[in-house]
Amino acid sequence: MSKITVIGAGNVGASCAEYIAMKNFAAEVVLLDIKEGFAEGKAMDLMQTQSLNGFDTKITGTTGDYSKTAGSDVCVITSGIPRKPGMTREELIGINAGIVKMVTSNLLEHSPNTIIVVVSNPMDTMTYLALKNSGLPKNRIIGMGGALDSARFKYFMATALNSPISDVDGMVIGGHGDTTMIPLTRLSSKCGVPASHFLSADELESVKGSTMVGGATLTGLLGTSAWYAPGAAVSTVVQSIVCDQHKMIPSCVMLDGQYGLSDICIGVPTILGANGVEEIIELDLNSEEKEAMMASAEKVRAVNALLN
Ligand code: NAI
Ligand code: 2OP
Repeated sequence: MSKITVIGAGNVGASCAEYIAMKNFAAEVVLLDIKEGFAEGKAMDLMQTQSLNGFDTKITGTTGDYSKTAGSDVCVITSGIPRKPGMTREELIGINAGIVKMVTSNLLEHSPNTIIVVVSNPMDTMTYLALKNSGLPKNRIIGMGGALDSARFKYFMATALNSPISDVDGMVIGGHGDTTMIPLTRLSSKCGVPASHFLSADELESVKGSTMVGGATLTGLLGTSAWYAPGAAVSTVVQSIVCDQHKMIPSCVMLDGQYGLSDICIGVPTILGANGVEEIIELDLNSEEKEAMMASAEKVRAVNALLN
């Protein structure tokens, strides 16, 4: 049984703690926030669902006391500001970069062997920053975006196919941005049968388009960015690591020649287990998909350049 820390007890952090607890695979979740009493309050509220929801995971909260996070196996960083309607994820960079830098060093001081999952946006750049700033080996810093984008892709695909979601498979790679993500429609399937057998090229394009603006659509409806699917996506990533499940989950990781890219953190299929990134899977992309990956990488690099 493991100890998980979640930095930021806001919408995504609290929802992520809730899903981790409900899946009952961790001994303890520590929520940390800078807002006085906020993490403690969220933790107590969640703990009062224990008997109702039937989980034993202990959830505690702290206002900024990193000593409470000591010895965490996995630390999730959700601290920072979310986007408001009309904002891009990239516009959050100034504030969130400072927060992610500080949080990463505080976490490592108390949990030197931890694996870090970065959620704060712009996530690809925040993952790159956390890696460069911490000097950690690249298997131990994982950006979460592809797990969420793939879940949204499967939702839109299942709707278009008029299928139960359990029949549908699919994956999104590339950056976690409205114009950088690459929903792989060619590789999506219903019970192993390519989605293109059931849907026209136009219908597949429409699924792809809805997926790419999936986050923005929700931000428009909610007035802030979404949290249920993001929280559930983080819990899936954390579970694969903590339970050494070796699930294949598209994640934002540092590339070292894979897909013809280096010195960039971007979404690719990864096998996640006890060591964090156990393996990066190189897909046989067609020329259109390769081009999309290169264009996505260019855009991610442009945001990374803003760090300087
Ligand atoms: P939120 O505003 O509800 O929560 C953020 C929390 O972070 C607040 O409670 C705030 O007090 C706290 N915080 C700020 N600075 C802190 C610090 N230095 N130390 C500890 N806590 C601090 O925001 P929400 O909706 O939870 O989003 C969090 C981040 O996650 C945003 O950057 C958002 O864009 C990103 N996000 C990323 C997704 C992804 O797929 N990668 C999906 C959804 C959101
Ligand atoms: C989302 O995709 C904004 O990254 C956040 O919902």
